[in-house]
Amino acid sequence: MDKKKLYIQTFGCQMNVQDSQKMAALLKESGYGTTEDPREADLILVNTCSIREKAAQKICSQLGRFRDLKEENPHLLIGAVGCLAQQWGARFFKRIPHLDLVVGTHQIHRLPEMVADLEQKGGQAVETGRCESVRSLEIVAQPPEGAVSTFVTIMQGCINRCAYCVVPFLRGPEESRPLDEILREVRMLAAEGIREVTLLGQNVNSYGQANGGGHDFADLLAAIGKVEGIERIRFTTSHPKDLSPRLIDSFGKVAPLCEHIHLPIQSGSDRVLALMNRGYRAEEYLAKVAALRASCPDIAITSDVIVGFPGEREEDFQATLALMRQVRFDNLFSFQYSEREGTAAAGMADPVPEAVKRERLVILQSLQMEHTGERNRARIGRTEGVLVEGPSKNGPQDMTGRTRANRIVNFPGAAGLIGQVVQVRITEAFLHSLRGEVEGRGEGDVH
Ligand code: SAH
Ligand code: SF4
Ligand code: F3S
Repeated sequence: MDKKKLYIQTFGCQMNVQDSQKMAALLKESGYGTTEDPREADLILVNTCSIREKAAQKICSQLGRFRDLKEENPHLLIGAVGCLAQQWGARFFKRIPHLDLVVGTHQIHRLPEMVADLEQKGGQAVETGRCESVRSLEIVAQPPEGAVSTFVTIMQGCINRCAYCVVPFLRGPEESRPLDEILREVRMLAAEGIREVTLLGQNVNSYGQANGGGHDFADLLAAIGKVEGIERIRFTTSHPKDLSPRLIDSFGKVAPLCEHIHLPIQSGSDRVLALMNRGYRAEEYLAKVAALRASCPDIAITSDVIVGFPGEREEDFQATLALMRQVRFDNLFSFQYSEREGTAAAGMADPVPEAVKRERLVILQSLQMEHTGERNRARIGRTEGVLVEGPSKNGPQDMTGRTRANRIVNFPGAAGLIGQVVQVRITEAFLHSLRGEVEGRGEGDVH
């Protein structure tokens, strides 16, 4: 039995979710079992994100709340890991004096040793050094018990310089994981019951360009497509400037590859796109959308938009809305621009007032709600393959899962269906989910 208990709270993107699983796997070897209750913990790790100021604030208030636990249990160790830890380093101790440990994005592998040291000697420890090769890429994450779907990191870091973005400074330059290693992990996951893998990288389109061993992303998809037991493959994120015809073709060729792409546009205005240093114009983005839809007519396209980037005028914002009306995204994640220390956009001329950013976000989100509703309603009456993930939040009589286009579907069903693909006829559509009834088994070719 594990003697000590670890509680991990994760903020930020899927990359962080994956890193948290890696940390849990590493610390298990040092005798730490995980707990869902921070009051039971001997070690609390907060895996941090710095993408927007709001994320940083939330993390600090969460760490602040753990102070009471430390007062009750002086042996409790509290650590900040991940992106904000990488950015702030020892400055974190000034903000949160009861922190014991700060570990950056390249040093996860050192956690067991650092924790053991703190257990023995006490004090505060910080490690934010960069490694040429990110060691955590080799650590195999342990998906939660009974999981049907999981993430697989295929690359780390980013070489793009989007003017607003802090990620390249915190995750370092791009590095791809060798194809064989990824395949080995996917085979192992399939043997453990995983049916769906989501391949993770800041820009999966450039997989292989930095030490991938001569294989590109389309090669990787084709190879994973042959792994027995893997019924579905997803990936995120894809930078529009690098979306290649070979990848577009893969949608028709690699059977398990799901008909969904997350393709962040960020703005519909060429002037703002240039200020953001995104490397494409709206017209080129639209051409890629058209090519994707030509190759795979039913593909779901989701995106990210930032409103209120410095210099964004009303006409630029209108151009974003016009592009949305043209594409009609299946879903869209939208954010108010948040200035990040060290980025090219920090201190840029013509900041947009907070009130204007807020107003633009509300307008944009209500337009997207119309589009999401419209795209979801279009599924009514169709039969879709749903990979059953587990019981639905609606109650014990319902199961939940996702369509290949990544829509959540709830339906009456029993737990015995978990891990299987069932054919569900869609009867109702809401903004965040669909509802339906099971008609049969298997992925079929109905999508
Ligand atoms: N590498 C991925 C993920 C980047 S972070 C990509 O390129 O898409 C996810 C999203 O956060 C971005 O797409 C962007 O829309 C948003 N984002 C990044 N930095 C931001 C900032 N400073 N302010 C507001 N939103 C930001
Ligand atoms: Fe950030 Fe751009 Fe890299 Fe994405 S592609 S992580 S937005 S710099
Ligand atoms: Fe992810 Fe946030 Fe870092 S979005 S890469 S955890 S800054």
